[in-house]
Order: sequence, then structure tokens, then C-alpha cells
Amino acid sequence: MALAKVLAANEEFARQNPAGCVAVFMGATAGIGESTLKRMVTLLDNSTFYVLGRNPTEIASKLEQLRISASTHQNKIVFIEAQVSLIADVDAACDRIIADENKVDYLCMSPGGMPFGGAVYTNEGLETCFAVSYYSRLRMVSKLLPLLRRSPGPHVLSILNGTLEKPINEDDLGLDKSWGITAVVNHTTVCTSLAFDYLSKQDEANKVVFLHATPGFVSTDTPRKTRPSRQSGILWWAFISTMQVVSGWIIYYFGMAVKDSGERHSYHLTSSTFNAGSWQVNRHSEVLPPNEVLRQYQERGWAEKVWDHSLRVWDRALATSRSS
Ligand SMILES: NC(=O)c1ccc[n+]([C@@H]2O[C@H](COP(=O)([O-])OP(=O)(O)OC[C@H]3O[C@@H](n4cnc5c(N)ncnc54)[C@H](OP(=O)(O)O)[C@@H]3O)[C@@H](O)[C@H]2O)c1
Repeated sequence: MALAKVLAANEEFARQNPAGCVAVFMGATAGIGESTLKRMVTLLDNSTFYVLGRNPTEIASKLEQLRISASTHQNKIVFIEAQVSLIADVDAACDRIIADENKVDYLCMSPGGMPFGGAVYTNEGLETCFAVSYYSRLRMVSKLLPLLRRSPGPHVLSILNGTLEKPINEDDLGLDKSWGITAVVNHTTVCTSLAFDYLSKQDEANKVVFLHATPGFVSTDTPRKTRPSRQSGILWWAFISTMQVVSGWIIYYFGMAVKDSGERHSYHLTSSTFNAGSWQVNRHSEVLPPNEVLRQYQERGWAEKVWDHSLRVWDRALATSRSS
């Protein structure tokens, strides 16, 4: 779908004066999520936006700007300090939202980036990239589902790599033994699509729109943020450093403008063209049918396996959190 059509659809949505909504953003303190949040506060009126973030002092001026923009539409910004790589923090943030709201209309999740720094583990024992790209996001969906089901048109959006599913290591779904940069990207991608399939099958009222979107190359600071680790050897460090510079330049010169990406993801959240169900969305905002790899996993019952695995990982992480 051409950008001009996306812009027109967003304008049309705003003209209908949608109001009284609740939107939750995880990973919107920078990059694509931030751009989406900035656009969403100008599309809705009289609505509440929950923004989860780990560094309140670093983003104080961004938040102030956002509050000014939001106030022109009588929107309220509620910042919740949370280290979203931790399941316990995600739970605490959700508990606060559940205590204050009767419903959630929009849930937008985009924390993460390239795991160039190697495998770094959280206090709960989860590898950080896997946690922020998948475990924490799906935990949030799972906790907020009762509120999402009370919305007239709930949209859940995970901005990762939908439509780009690739084969995974079936003997090591959580990558406990075989972590690698490509592997963590492939596993979190497949897990997201299959977990959304699972949740969509449980959605008896057939109400919730689950979108797993790929943004394409977007000009954010993502490739430049993390430093590769030297622990895996100097050759590997040199290779990753080169990849990081090259991908950074490609994204900078050829990537989509982050503002346009924010428009597209606002469209994904608000458009009524997406039906209830679990969908993979490409960088042109088009729903594609499951690719051959995903289709095989679906047919072989991997949605249930992925969900069971997620439940086990969350329990383990929370037990580690309690004992530390
Ligand atoms: N940009 C692209 O070209 C591209 C392409 C394909 C897929 N993607 C995927 O799209 C998503 C968004 O990308 P982006 O370019 O917008 O990323 P970004 O500019 O790096 O922003 C990432 C957001 O995630 C948060 N975050 C990152 N690591 C975190 C951690 N360990 N714990 C807590 N919060 C963390 C950041 O918070 P802080 O502000 O606190 O750092 C920020 O709000 C990512 O999952 C990325 O892999 C991006």
C-alpha cells in the first residue's frame, strides 16, 4: 500500500474524532515505536496513553514534548518506569494498567534492536534480545488480554519481522544451547507469529486483531546503539563491527524515514481493514499469507508448543526473580 494511501487513511480516521481510548506502548522511547506514539497522540482525542520505559531522566524532555502534543487533543500520557526485559517488571506495569483501566484498545510493542553485543542475560536468566523481542512482549499481551477483549476493536501490534519466518532449531527453541545472532532473530520471529496464532485460536469472541509486522529498513539508531563483544574472538568482533557499520549505512541512506514508519504502524493499529485473527504484515502494510516455513510449523502443531514453552520460561524467570 502506497504511503499516500496510508496518510489519507490516518487523516480520515482522525476526522472521525475517535475518543475515549486506551493505548499501551512498550519500546516507544526511541525509533519506530516513538514515531508511532507521536502520531497516535494526534489521531485520538480524550484518550490515555501508557508508555513503558527504563530511563525516565534520559527521556524527560521527549516526554514533555509528547505531553504538549497530546494535550492539544486532551490526551493523557502516563509514563510507567519498567525494565521491559524483565518479566516481573512487565507484570508490575500490567497490574497498574489493569487497576486503572477497564479496557485496552491498542497495544503496540517494539522494544529491541540488533543483538550485536552478543548474548547478555537478565537477572531473571533470560537472554535480553529474546526477552525484549518475544518473551516480554507476549507476556504483556497475555496479561492485558482480558482488557483487550473489552475493547470494541482491539489491535495488538508487534513490530519485528512478520512475513520473514525462517527455520528454527526445533531441539532448542529457547536457544539455551545454540544462541546466535541469526538464530535469535529467526526464533523470536517464528515464535511471535505462532504465539499470535495460538492466542487468536483462543479468542472465542473473534475480536482481537493480532498483527506481526516487519518494518523493513527504517532509519533509526538501532544498528549503531550496541557494541559488539570481543568475548567471541577478535575475528568475530571485526566481522560483526563491519556488518554493523554496513547495515547502519544501508539503513541510514536507503531506509524508510522513521516518521513514515510511524504513520504506517499507526495505520496498522487503527485501520478497520484488518480483521480479527493473527496476521503477518509486510513493510508495505499488506497482509501476506503464511510463508512456506510458517505454514509447516502451523500444520505440525508448533503454535501450542511455542505457547507451552513460553509459559515454562515465564514461570522460570519469575521464580529466578523471586529467589534473587
Ligand atoms: N529499524 C529497522 O530497520 C528494523 C528492521 C527490522 C526490524 N526492526 C525491529 O523493529 C523493532 C524496533 O526497532 P527500532 O529501529 O525502532 O529500534 P530502536 O530505535 O533501537 O528503539 C528500540 C526501543 O526499544 C527499547 N529497548 C531496546 N533495548 C531494550 C532493552 N534491552 N530493554 C528495554 N528496552 C529496550 C529502547 O529503549 P531506550 O530508549 O531505553 O533505549 C527503544 O524504546 C526492533 O525489534 C527491531 O529489531 C527494525
